[in-house]
Amino acid sequence: MARLYWEDENVMTDKPQKTASLTLDGKTYELPVISPTAGPDVIDIRKLYAQANVFTYDPGFTSTAACDSTITFIDGDLGELLHRGYPIDQLASKSHYLEVCFLLLYGHLPEAGELETFESLVTNHTMLHEQMVHLFRGFRRDAHPMAIMTGVVGAMSAFYHDSTDINDPHQREVASIRLIAKMPTIAAMAFKYTVGQPFVYPRNDIDYASNFLRMCFAVPAEDYEVNPILARAMDRIFTLHADHEQNASTSTVRLASSSGANPFACIAAGIACLWGPAHGGANQACLEMLNEIGTVDRIPEFIARAKDKNDPFRLMGFGHRVYKNIDPRAKVLKESADEVLELLGVENNPILQVAKELEAAALADPYFAEKKLFPNVDFYSGIILEAMGFPTSMFTPIFALSRTVGWISQWKEMISDPAMKIGRPRQLYCGEVARDYVDIENR
Ligand code: CMC
Repeated sequence: MARLYWEDENVMTDKPQKTASLTLDGKTYELPVISPTAGPDVIDIRKLYAQANVFTYDPGFTSTAACDSTITFIDGDLGELLHRGYPIDQLASKSHYLEVCFLLLYGHLPEAGELETFESLVTNHTMLHEQMVHLFRGFRRDAHPMAIMTGVVGAMSAFYHDSTDINDPHQREVASIRLIAKMPTIAAMAFKYTVGQPFVYPRNDIDYASNFLRMCFAVPAEDYEVNPILARAMDRIFTLHADHEQNASTSTVRLASSSGANPFACIAAGIACLWGPAHGGANQACLEMLNEIGTVDRIPEFIARAKDKNDPFRLMGFGHRVYKNIDPRAKVLKESADEVLELLGVENNPILQVAKELEAAALADPYFAEKKLFPNVDFYSGIILEAMGFPTSMFTPIFALSRTVGWISQWKEMISDPAMKIGRPRQLYCGEVARDYVDIENR
């Protein structure tokens, strides 16, 4: 495989300038404070247990930085998302997915020659090992495509032995290109398998997004003419989902790889985590919710349910752990939804009307305002994907294929850091203390 330059990233260099004091049982400990290039300062507690014999407690990682990174930055209050410093709205309007992949992986915007090499590398690795194609047939026809993707991506380690040695930077790069190149093929095949149609093999003469659309919608009896506006909208969906710093699936990939597991196993773990409805599964759940609401007159009923503490129902596509303002990706997707639906002549789609009215009703409601709950990326993406012809079960697979580059970039950053340690959280144990075993006849 041709090579681009794959420089190792060594991230945290700054010497701490400040300290924080912690007083415990009359003793004071000085803890280094590290200042990032953006975002809040971080108290370095790595030596705290050794010095003070205490752990910190933060289930859900609401106040804990689990790593240092140079890839993506989110300012949740401003609703800002930057990849290597570049704002997502600029990338969505001026760049395209494979250029953003290069940016995330290599740290800078490519020069023309670099982009050409990268695109050619990805384009020439889109086919799957033919034996892998047979693997799909082991799944039931009614399997969810996410289940198939988790299994097939995990199985890549059984097919691509020459890119599983994580200590070899060249093998890491080969694995990365393979994953980015093959993920659309895997997602499209998972889709074709569940609808009972023959697999459509990739074509190298069309762009990444068009190729994915064609693999999903062409059949041997009839080729699929890719509309450039739909291809652009697809590419934008890929771009908007490419990375999102230390979210649950990315942290899963990092934790899995901290043990030295091979890249395919780690990405399969990320896909499995993404599937949950609180994470990537929310796009499917959101469209199902909009369909269930059905007409605008039922919106107040669903808003009331979302606010009811005794009802587990939540407004899908609303709220975010980090954004306390509108998710910048949702803004771009709202515009894209209008464009795509107009192109397809379905601008009066009742579900789009429900979505817009629901958004307006929630934003005007004090409950959502007080809790700073705004539409997130999943709110409009499903409407676009459905209009393109995808069933709801394909929404999360499309998220997974888009996020693959983010997982890989974070994995690459972590593996190349000489300070990498296996991830091993501590716990606040609240169970029984040591007690003697009781024989069964005495219980
Ligand atoms: N509808 C109604 N109430 C909500 C919602 C919602 N969608 N989201 C949060 N809340 C309430 C929640 O009940 C809680 O209220 P209280 O403080 O009275 O107990 C408060 O807001 C804070 O919620 P939280 O669950 O503590 O916040 P979190 O940061 O742990 O959860 C979230 C973030 C995204 C899981 C959550 O907002 C949610 O479940 N949203 C719906 C699912 C969704 O759209 N997920 C996609 C996230 S973006 C894409 C991705 O990351 O994959």
